[in-house]
Amino acid sequence: MSTTLIQGGTVVSAIGRREADVLIDGESIAAILAPGHAAAYGITPDVVIDATGKYVVPGGVDAHVHMSLPFGGTVSADDFDTGSRAAAWGGVTTIIDFASQTVGLDVREALAARHVEAAGECHVDYAFHQIIGDVNEESLEAMTYLVENEGITSFKMFMAYPGVFYSDDGKILRAMQNASESGALMMMHAENGIAIDVLVAQSLARGDSDPKYHSYTRPEELESEATHRAIKLARVAGNVPLYIVHMSASEALEEVSRAQHMGLNVFAETCPQYLYLSIEDHLAQPGFEGAKWVCSTPLRSKHEHHQKDLWKGLRMNELAVVSTDHCPFCMKDQKELGIGDFSKIPNGMGGVEHRMEMIYQGVVMGEMTLERWVETCCTTPARMFGLEKKGVLEPGADADVLVWDPNTKTKIGINDKHHMAMDHSSYEGFEVDGKVDTVISRGRVVVANDTYLGAKGHGQFVKRSLNKYIH
Ligand code: URP
Ligand code: ZN
Ligand code: ZN
Repeated sequence: MSTTLIQGGTVVSAIGRREADVLIDGESIAAILAPGHAAAYGITPDVVIDATGKYVVPGGVDAHVHMSLPFGGTVSADDFDTGSRAAAWGGVTTIIDFASQTVGLDVREALAARHVEAAGECHVDYAFHQIIGDVNEESLEAMTYLVENEGITSFKMFMAYPGVFYSDDGKILRAMQNASESGALMMMHAENGIAIDVLVAQSLARGDSDPKYHSYTRPEELESEATHRAIKLARVAGNVPLYIVHMSASEALEEVSRAQHMGLNVFAETCPQYLYLSIEDHLAQPGFEGAKWVCSTPLRSKHEHHQKDLWKGLRMNELAVVSTDHCPFCMKDQKELGIGDFSKIPNGMGGVEHRMEMIYQGVVMGEMTLERWVETCCTTPARMFGLEKKGVLEPGADADVLVWDPNTKTKIGINDKHHMAMDHSSYEGFEVDGKVDTVISRGRVVVANDTYLGAKGHGQFVKRSLNKYIH
């Protein structure tokens, strides 16, 4: 097995930073050494990576992505091959995607089908959450089976999208009770989909059909109401750990913060789009342009306080994780399905490649520390979802490493840095500080010197244990 020494860099973890060298043996971290000490221990590495002036951090863990998701009358544009490759370009070495059970489907069969889609396709390691869209005796029994046998320890449910993924409160409660017994984590898409559908119909009847009405028909009250309801249901279900996904609104964050102060096991994530993009600058662009940014929960007004509050939530650990909810659709043939009717625009946007960049910019802007960048993008998502060998640089952990150059800038755009299978970039024109320099996935260099060195099939499925905050 070959050894690699990353020397001269500053190793940053969730709790601090220090000058140190990182020794990799095969697929694992072998040691974190005082600078220059490898020779003193008689170590002659096969490969030396010079990280002088750079940060050495754990490879990113993006806990919320959707490759090849059938949704909104089409299928998300990145498959496991292109999407996991773009992840690698973005310094992400583990992705967690979803297996979907919808009405009438068998949970285990849905999971098996998802395994077939991903096997041999991924460039970085991957895991699955299971979407439960049809709660019945069989699916409840399957949930327990997945936790005990398949390394699937988190389940996503939807209070939105009636007729697609939606579950009513009774079904959600039953699934939560099951998770409470098995120790699994419940993930919730918290928006009141029944009320949203009324607002959508009324908006279209008035002739308000442009993309921006996607956000106006999903007001923050309907995100916070659903968040509140999910928290109460989780409490009734025995304080089952609850993780609210893609949080976009201040009021919803307040619900999470209140629950945390009450001692409830409630966690939440936000995504870069909610920290940087807005109705005014993106969703309300003239003509049909805004369709690029139709996602749910929706982008919100920059004149309100959401972005400021979400950054604060990240600093204060009210928001534990930054994920991307990567769910890209091209404008051509996909977003175009909703010309003249915003409700037919497939919901989702791409960003798996840009999370480390966009959140590092938060460090530069003074919104969070370097350590918190590592914590929210690497360490906590690994602990939250039971990825035992991910998210840290310590002996025995997988050798998933990102060497980050803080002295260079990254220009994002369809003709600049862009490796996702999209015909546009959600972050077009952004120029951020810092740059992905070198990416190592289980000991293999996959990105270096602006060159892709990885390969389809290198990424392996990772079985997950229970959430490490509760169990
Ligand atoms: O708009 C979004 N978020 N699309 C992906 C599906 C989901 O709700 O996460
Ligand atoms: Zn969702
Ligand atoms: Zn999602």
